[in-house]
Amino acid sequence: MNVHVKTAKYIVIDGVDGSGKGTVMKHLMDTFPNPYNKNKSNEDIRREGVVGKYTIFTREPGGTPLGEKLRSLILNDSMTSYTEFCLFVGQRAEVRKMVIEPALQSGVNVISDRSDSATFAYQLRGRQLTHLEDFYWSTRNQVLPLPTLYVFLDVDPRVSAKRLSGLGKEADNFERENLQFFERVSAGYKEFAQKVETPCRFVDAGCTPEEVAEEVTTIVNEHFGNIIKLSADIVVPLSRRV
Ligand code: TYD
Repeated sequence: MNVHVKTAKYIVIDGVDGSGKGTVMKHLMDTFPNPYNKNKSNEDIRREGVVGKYTIFTREPGGTPLGEKLRSLILNDSMTSYTEFCLFVGQRAEVRKMVIEPALQSGVNVISDRSDSATFAYQLRGRQLTHLEDFYWSTRNQVLPLPTLYVFLDVDPRVSAKRLSGLGKEADNFERENLQFFERVSAGYKEFAQKVETPCRFVDAGCTPEEVAEEVTTIVNEHFGNIIKLSADIVVPLSRRV
């Protein structure tokens, strides 16, 4: 018997500050229908029995009431780099358990604005917390579920720095960093892609935001694949996935 297995997908969009991620996320939100806007609960969607019909959006840091409080602290308060690292891991545990896992288990796709790839690039490489590398990989394997695809917006840090300075908004704890920091972050994303088994796609974010958004949308569509009716398929419970 030819058994087709389909599970909901969890895609992370990431890149250095000023890579145009905001425009990309907005374009994705306009393109993919969000079930929660239609007052559908995970239970309603589970009953509909369709995998991959809906997509929800979340972000890191943030994505839950507690995560949003942590976001405000992380971006604005003064703290040690170690504290910062731990708070990123903490807010991730929260959003994955409370939002991402239940959505995936109901057959809903998830698109997240940043995730663990940013902790590798910003904390381990940008902040040079190299001594936390083993700690990073062990928490990465415990704070589940893991993404099924990463899309990195790749831009020369000199270009992104120029874009940021043109925004005219007050810089947060990261946007205040210097060019060398962002060069390390940018290289960190490439290194991360070499180290993980999850597929990673790099998109040239040097062109117009609209072109970047179109390309990312195509990649996301490919990864989502076709919508499949549950009755004709077997859905693998997340707890049994490795
Ligand atoms: P972002 O939401 O992209 O900021 P904005 O909405 O202002 O464009 O990300 C917030 C900042 O958090 C960004 O500078 C990257 C940083 N960050 C880390 O340093 N480590 C992480 O693990 C994550 C998720 C974000």
